[in-house]
Amino acid sequence: MTAVTPARIATEWWRDAVIYQIYPRSFADANGDGIGDLPGITARLGDIAELGVDAVWLSPFYTSPQKDAGYDVADYRDVDPLFGTLDDARLLVERAHELGLRVIADIVPNHTSDQHVWFQAALQSPPGSPERARYVFREGRGTDGSEPPNNWTSVFGGPAWTRVTEADGSDGEWYLHLFDTSQPDLDWTNEEVLEEFDDVLRFWLDLGVDGFRVDVAHGLAKEEGLPDFTPDDTAGSMGGDDHAPTPYFGQESVHEIWRRWRTVVEEFGPDRILTAEAWVNPVERMALWTRPDEMHQAFNFAFLSAEWEPAALREVIDRSLLAFGSVGAPSTWVLSNHDVVRHASRLALTAENPQGHGIGPESPGLPIPELGLRRARAASLLMLALPGSAYIYQGEELGLPEHVFIPDDARQDPTWFRTEGERYGRDGCRVPLPWETDAPAYGFSATGATWLPQPDEWAHLSRAAQRGVEGSTLEMYRAALRERAAHGLGHAELIWRDAADGVVSFDVAGLTVVANLGETPVAIEGELVLASAPCDGLLEPDTTVWLRR
Ligand code: NOJ
Ligand code: CA
Repeated sequence: MTAVTPARIATEWWRDAVIYQIYPRSFADANGDGIGDLPGITARLGDIAELGVDAVWLSPFYTSPQKDAGYDVADYRDVDPLFGTLDDARLLVERAHELGLRVIADIVPNHTSDQHVWFQAALQSPPGSPERARYVFREGRGTDGSEPPNNWTSVFGGPAWTRVTEADGSDGEWYLHLFDTSQPDLDWTNEEVLEEFDDVLRFWLDLGVDGFRVDVAHGLAKEEGLPDFTPDDTAGSMGGDDHAPTPYFGQESVHEIWRRWRTVVEEFGPDRILTAEAWVNPVERMALWTRPDEMHQAFNFAFLSAEWEPAALREVIDRSLLAFGSVGAPSTWVLSNHDVVRHASRLALTAENPQGHGIGPESPGLPIPELGLRRARAASLLMLALPGSAYIYQGEELGLPEHVFIPDDARQDPTWFRTEGERYGRDGCRVPLPWETDAPAYGFSATGATWLPQPDEWAHLSRAAQRGVEGSTLEMYRAALRERAAHGLGHAELIWRDAADGVVSFDVAGLTVVANLGETPVAIEGELVLASAPCDGLLEPDTTVWLRR
């Protein structure tokens, strides 16, 4: 079976781009307070350019009380002092462009922080006021309104509604927050909200960013009447179940917003992009976010969520290429981000672990680190050969695992608090990066301060320990990106090959890729271009190779 990715044209750089996600808090800390910042990023951008990626995407660095690590924005047009200043953002964009890297900003339109001036004004204004109409305020149920307006639960656990106290001291209305209490949902049927965000997009496009990663792009629109809904237990916390329709995720009317945003980014030329974070299943449905007049890309969470198993992998690759191809979009490929267990751990878990739950010391089926790393390298090498655009999450190029043993009192994810420790949440994938082997905080911060503790055994995983070392994960990524570009894999045609049990194999632009996901070694022939583990004619389990045909 053959699936084709449309050929690339000059301005459509994103069709085959490799985009590196920077999580600012944990990338590099320039001022020693233990939290990564924009000057820290700017200083280290050269290392990222050297990897061979085309762009960086930065998780939010806007003014924020940091209740959800910056996904709770209090001012969309400024930088939080924790991360620097607007000038630091300008310098970062300038430096990136000098290095040939595009910059994707993260925008969070589903909700604001409760510290946003709009929400503060809403709290001070009476029910029915225009200030409240920017958010989703409703009266409670029951005779005294003491029950929430419906049964929706927050993604982070607990109810999705919080009751306010009115100016006269009485118990008042409830407001909706699909995430933390400190993240009130905006009402996207309100024209004022639409206009405000058009303007925010223009602000950052003017400053020079090349596009946006759009947070909760399946949210925003809610079904009229806000009917009760109970999600499937097995669904990841961001949604992503096969139920259609969910009254707060994947509503048809959300697409109107993306059509509007597309026209805004196009004011700045054809090469600025929108990428959807839309946790919807199946992938055919997700492709709707990337129709020609909507977004350019969507994170392929079906691929990220696929089992390490040949039939599953082949199916998701096929379906992705076809689904995105059918709307003229490239498929994306992604294995890790700041919301999921790092794939160097996830691929070796032996117990169910829905997205967002995270893993910690007491989790069942904890991974064997060596197996996890081996599989992660094999999976990454397979991913980087696929046609379309690939996303890399900071640290995966070092083979970083999830930090499982974060002490309870160091945890920060609201999920941990809102579920009273029942779910560990996402801290384990957000630990500050190791840059050096023998420096305080492995070079993350000169003072040795880190907002989350780093594991003791990360010294050998630091960038310095891996740079120039044959066979290191870092050098494997660099080589893969070099060959990917040289062979034009990102815009080539993928043709499946018949393969032995346990094996996935395809041809792409003069190369043959073979991944052994089974339990026994298999013989391979051809000139070795790259291998995720040592290989001399026999492909061991959990290994991927690229061969020249
Ligand atoms: C998705 C983001 O990636 C996640 O980190 C955040 O908690 C939620 N959206 C809410 O903004
Ligand atoms: Ca700092």
